[in-house]
Amino acid sequence: MSQLKPIISHLDNIPSTPGKFKPEKSPYIHRLRIHSISKLTLFSFFFLAVILSIFLFSAPSTPSRPAESAAAALARRSLSNAEMDDHERERKVRSSACARSRRGHTVLVTGAAGFVGTHVSIALKRRGDGVVGLDNFNDYYDPALKRARQKLLNQAGVFVVEGDINDSALLKKLFDAVAFTHVMHLAAQAGVRYAMQNPSSYVHSNIGGLVSVLEVCKSANPQPAIVWASSSSVYGLNSKVPFSEKDRTDRPASLYAATKKAGEGIAHTYNHIYGLSITGLRFFTVYGPWGRPDMAYFFFTKDILKGKPITVFEAPDHGTVARDFTYIDDIVAGCLAALDTAKKSTGSGGKKKGAAQFRIYNLGNTSPVPVSRLVSILEKLLKVKANRKVLPMPRNGDVQFTHANISLAQKELGYKPTTDLETGLKKFTRWYLSYYKKKKSAW
Ligand SMILES: NC(=O)c1ccc[n+]([C@@H]2O[C@H](COP(=O)([O-])OP(=O)(O)OC[C@H]3O[C@@H](n4cnc5c(N)ncnc54)[C@H](O)[C@@H]3O)[C@@H](O)[C@H]2O)c1
Repeated sequence: MSQLKPIISHLDNIPSTPGKFKPEKSPYIHRLRIHSISKLTLFSFFFLAVILSIFLFSAPSTPSRPAESAAAALARRSLSNAEMDDHERERKVRSSACARSRRGHTVLVTGAAGFVGTHVSIALKRRGDGVVGLDNFNDYYDPALKRARQKLLNQAGVFVVEGDINDSALLKKLFDAVAFTHVMHLAAQAGVRYAMQNPSSYVHSNIGGLVSVLEVCKSANPQPAIVWASSSSVYGLNSKVPFSEKDRTDRPASLYAATKKAGEGIAHTYNHIYGLSITGLRFFTVYGPWGRPDMAYFFFTKDILKGKPITVFEAPDHGTVARDFTYIDDIVAGCLAALDTAKKSTGSGGKKKGAAQFRIYNLGNTSPVPVSRLVSILEKLLKVKANRKVLPMPRNGDVQFTHANISLAQKELGYKPTTDLETGLKKFTRWYLSYYKKKKSAW
């Protein structure tokens, strides 16, 4: 599970440029060729030709596949990945989008099968909002975990459309079907270290994908308000703590951080030009049940239980590496508060009609904990001694510590994290043991 495979989105098999689109050959022409080389009589050849021309000229007026635009083909094919036709899918989308009350939001959650996306989608649905998920179920980490989250979402009444945020035609279809009041944009290529292995996946999802989401939002009428996940990693090499939204963010330490920082700039542009209401949330190391297997607390748990050594990094001069670990429920509360306080976008159909809200908040826990302490808590909860290897921190994009100043979110969102690391890890390990006990293969 800790084996992080390269992304192979289901769209990778689909041509992304019209030039690469290979039209399928007409079955009639194919049939013609077969017959021309057969030993049929001249009469039967002419007879067949007459029949063929009748067929060809009486073809339906709707465009056949070869004449279809690449974008339309992309949408049709990406909608057909599950055994469900377009009509059935649209019915599910509309029903999932239904809010319980007229005052409820109608939210498109991208990255819904992800860790944060699942929790946020379920919380929104439970309180009565309409929610439609979108996720490409890529295999950056075990897609089986994403499928298991999808089951939870289904049970909660949240339908997840399988597709890529870069698929503009699919996004347009969704917006044609539903008048989303809000977009909670969480789909992204996450993880700091993986950027050295697969840099283009970060550009694809965190830059290209973000632009594609903002494009459909700007053209929608009415435009939705957007809340999206940036990251604490934008603080990069900052040494002033705690990190405040006013601090500089122009020295990213990883490509992941650089794409999130670029996202903040792109978001500002769409706010400025098109009047989109946009709120960026800088999450600080989110953890909890249904979490991400590529994160230290998760793979430490797995390796400790397996009796495998774990590597704990230390900064130069035996400096402490620490993180402002933030429990998932606190992050969910912050996301919901950001959605609830988001003002309406001011534009419509691609035209700005006035200044729109633009906000950025830190969502952290304000109490950084050394990674060595995280391991001690896990040892206690799992009742297994870890086999620790202490090594100097490599230059792979990780920073030495993170620490959030959350006073702005506290003041404007009423954000107040309540879960300390020990309590949160207790909930995580309980989930981990029960989830993987059922799936014995994982450990
Ligand atoms: N978890 C954290 O500690 C943390 C910290 C800072 C920021 N963030 C940000 O929060 C958001 C959610 O993170 P997470 O921890 O839930 O990650 P995650 O990887 O579990 O969730 C992201 C989801 O997006 C989907 N996705 C990725 N690219 C896609 C694409 N092109 N089209 C459609 N779907 C796509 C993935 O399949 C995945 O299910 C991300 O934007 C991440 O960068 C997370």
